[in-house]
Amino acid sequence: PAPTPGFPLPTTHTQQAYDPASDFTSKWTRADAKQIMAQSDSTVAPGVTSMSPDVTMPEIPEDFPTMNDDVWVWDTWSLTDENANQVSYKGWDVIFSLVADRDAGYGFDQRHWNARIGYFFRKTNADPAKDKWNYGGHVFADGASIGNTEWSGSTRLMQGNKVNVFYTATTFYDVAERNAGGGGIAPDAAIAKALGNIHADKNGVSFDGFTHTKLLEPDGEMYQNKAQNPGFAFRDPYTFEDPAHPGKTYMVFEGNTGGTRGEYECKAEDLGYQPGDPNAENLNEVNSIGANYQTANVGLAVADNKDLTKWSFLPPVLSANCVNDQTERPQIFIQNEGGKNKYYLFTISHQFTYAAGMRGPDGVYGFVGDGVRSDYQPMNNSGLALASPTDLNLPSESPERPTPNQNGRQFQAYSHYVQPGGLVQSFIDNVNGVRGGSLSPTVKINFRDGISQVDRTFGQNGLGPFGYLPTNLNVGGAGHY
Ligand code: FRU
Repeated sequence: PAPTPGFPLPTTHTQQAYDPASDFTSKWTRADAKQIMAQSDSTVAPGVTSMSPDVTMPEIPEDFPTMNDDVWVWDTWSLTDENANQVSYKGWDVIFSLVADRDAGYGFDQRHWNARIGYFFRKTNADPAKDKWNYGGHVFADGASIGNTEWSGSTRLMQGNKVNVFYTATTFYDVAERNAGGGGIAPDAAIAKALGNIHADKNGVSFDGFTHTKLLEPDGEMYQNKAQNPGFAFRDPYTFEDPAHPGKTYMVFEGNTGGTRGEYECKAEDLGYQPGDPNAENLNEVNSIGANYQTANVGLAVADNKDLTKWSFLPPVLSANCVNDQTERPQIFIQNEGGKNKYYLFTISHQFTYAAGMRGPDGVYGFVGDGVRSDYQPMNNSGLALASPTDLNLPSESPERPTPNQNGRQFQAYSHYVQPGGLVQSFIDNVNGVRGGSLSPTVKINFRDGISQVDRTFGQNGLGPFGYLPTNLNVGGAGHY
């Protein structure tokens, strides 16, 4: 790409695949992420979206419908198989969401400390504009899961009516922290799974018989642990099979680079500037402004047995050292392009987790390569695939404390998840001060060769039905009971 005056060139990435078990970790560099600002318009009036319409989610109306009156709803995923198909079970579509009681005396921003995995179902091929999702309640019985708070994961239909729910077992020790939302004793985090049964009849879907197994805790070497950083991230498991490595099951998850917080030193590879680039930053300076505190990675693990109860860590597939501190809810999306499988790694991130000297919006970021582990090319050269409308010329903020001069939709949606067909679902967070806790209108992105574009012919000016998570594969018949 032609350089933008005043901005550095992005890093060269080959997209070459490596053995998943090898120790090559792709880097989302400062030079890459600087392209977000290089592609942003510095001349817009304050508070107007400065990003290209190709990567900007259309505006969600303020009078959005509430999906459920009893629970706040955020991170959401479909029932899937090992190939990321979204499966309908005996004529029902099933989705899983983090939920928290709306009337328990805490607000939407306290949801993380009170999160449970809930589920919804509706008839396959329902009219998404008319037929509501039916709330089925919590997936697990009270007190049954490992940890006292259930954070995100993924759910796979196994043989027959067995399901594996992979989740983050978060344990808070401090009631004050749970109620006030932060500042207390840091929680523990483990990646866990529960194997149970799914049932369907003419009335709907239910689950029972779960056996919970703890799978992974951070090792402190490749993946940072609580002793090294109370604010560590270790969560959001997503499992899949790789057609290039038949018979193996992999998991991607959100992690941080191992080591005591603050001791990491940014390296030339984390900056990724081209030799002699006049707009390159100086390494010492990047370290001295504290950019080394932000050390996100996307972790990889491999299952050691068919029951998926034993796992081994592999080195991270992507690091964002000195760029960003959180690469959340990662997923691998395989797309055939010209007869070749291209691997898209999608992950969500926030504006407030960027490192010093970096700026980007809340949204979904994507990387493309030739394998699960590859020298990933950031989508659109920057990594940014789809974000909430934001004026990136103004300083970063958080959804709890936006200022009136920013775009009122900078936090309209989060936790974007890319589904078959490029459909992207997310939850509504804050639309012009109206808090969400319900699923967003689904939007569509078209992407190929690592370049993406919001499809504004989809739905109404690019906004599809609210909470549109259609299935693309039927299992167990169409449901004639
Ligand atoms: C993303 C996220 C996940 C986590 C959950 C906790 O929105 O931060 O990483 O599992 O929310 O509420």
